Amino acid sequence: MAVVVLSACTNNAGKASVENNDDGKTTNGGMNMERHDESFMGESMNDHSMEEEMDGASMDNGHMDHDNVVSLNDSTGKDELGIPPLLQSGSDEKTEYTIRAQKGETEIFDGVQTKTYGYNSSFLGPMLQFEKGETVTINLINELDDNTTFHWHGLEVAGNEDGGPHEVLEPGEEDTIEFEVTQEAATLWFHPHPEGETSEQVYNGLAGLIYIEDQNSKNLELPSDYGKNDIPLVFQDKIFDDEKQLNYEAAANEDGTVGDTSLINGTLNPKLTVDKEKVRLRLLNGSNARNYIFKLNTGDSFVQIATDGGFLNEPVSMNEITLTPSERAEIIVDFSKMNSNENVALINEDDGSTLLPFEITDQIGKNTELPDEMNDFSVTEEEMNMPVTKEIELFGMMDMVTINGKKFDPERIDFTQKQGVTEVWEIYNKPDMMGGMIHPFHIHGAQFKILSRNGETPPENERGWKDSFSVVPNETVKIAIQFKNKGIYMFHCHILEHEDNGMMGQVKVE
Ligand code: C2O
Ligand code: CU
Ligand code: CU
Repeated sequence: MAVVVLSACTNNAGKASVENNDDGKTTNGGMNMERHDESFMGESMNDHSMEEEMDGASMDNGHMDHDNVVSLNDSTGKDELGIPPLLQSGSDEKTEYTIRAQKGETEIFDGVQTKTYGYNSSFLGPMLQFEKGETVTINLINELDDNTTFHWHGLEVAGNEDGGPHEVLEPGEEDTIEFEVTQEAATLWFHPHPEGETSEQVYNGLAGLIYIEDQNSKNLELPSDYGKNDIPLVFQDKIFDDEKQLNYEAAANEDGTVGDTSLINGTLNPKLTVDKEKVRLRLLNGSNARNYIFKLNTGDSFVQIATDGGFLNEPVSMNEITLTPSERAEIIVDFSKMNSNENVALINEDDGSTLLPFEITDQIGKNTELPDEMNDFSVTEEEMNMPVTKEIELFGMMDMVTINGKKFDPERIDFTQKQGVTEVWEIYNKPDMMGGMIHPFHIHGAQFKILSRNGETPPENERGWKDSFSVVPNETVKIAIQFKNKGIYMFHCHILEHEDNGMMGQVKVE
């Protein structure tokens, strides 16, 4: 039985989560998110532009005003959850996909067209399936009016195929990439990465899913009926204006844009109809900045089977799980013992909101047994004893965020690393006078291992392949990372506004 303590307190709803927490299980005591606006205004900031911003809209929904956190509206369960379509290969002989970044209009609210972005559709993207070992060709087309890139979050590909800020496609431009899928079964995703514009493009709807399958994932016989008992859940929060439009500029917050409206797979007020069986939920925090603490309203436990980059060695029983932006987790919820009249929902413990009510049918589904063993992930003694060779210090907030005191410069290589050589990176979140905030840290082009959090073994559900992880203020996280391919890769905070504000660096693998 693992109770996972990651972080109860978030940049956008920190206070609420602490107050809501009556069992004391999720509180991370070391993480002080209390801010004292007086001292903040008075002493610590003499930068003029900063003060101006503080007086502006960013106070309203940012982490700085904890008495006025934006909670998510409860889902009424009015509509059945939308499931992203599976993208079909354009060729019989090989796996070839064509992905268009495009503008469109979407009926998110009944009878209203909202201007949105999407991949091969007006809003969000399809699901792409890759097989380990196969060569995949992807044709990329930019039909937007702005530059964009196609980034494969979590995928181990060469730097020039990774879709970072250097791989820009101008409006109307096309490109083709080809790579071999060398990593194990996992749930990854893709999204744009143009320098300084990532947050707006993702916010407007550019995000899609990748499922990698391999022999192991087939042998495990987990629920895998797509859209039936194997459900992708892309969580995002938005603000809609009076015309029910996404007005990024008006909504934007330098510390991470959070909204009051929860969408899952782009569906407003979703419910999910399930049979009485074990159902696999693939959770993706696709929000610009919001952290989620997923939990069942009944308090029932569920089982986590996968992290960002693959299966855990064994299923881990959990009561709740925190995902910071860009993190994924696959969980199994057992509906076989639940009653059809039971009121069961996935909630966000952080603010108590109902994210996804379940409607349980009378249909008794497959009685799948969960395997005891799913993977052979391990941290070696050698890795545990390796010296730290790269140090990263995350610091700041709003547009004053930095990594090792610097802002992103596309011309500057911050680190180099040899292809195929494991190194230990140490990531430290340096608190500021007000305590600081969680930064979700991500590295492109590799799946890595978390060695320790503040010197301690990470929780059971983080003992698996990761590409993103939370770092709470004053925390030091050590990871062991190896790049299989060459190229220039980004590492950054996945609060997208922090990324756009320069909280990003580059490692060159040669
Ligand atoms: Cu989701 Cu730079 O990545
Ligand atoms: Cu990435
Ligand atoms: Cu950050």
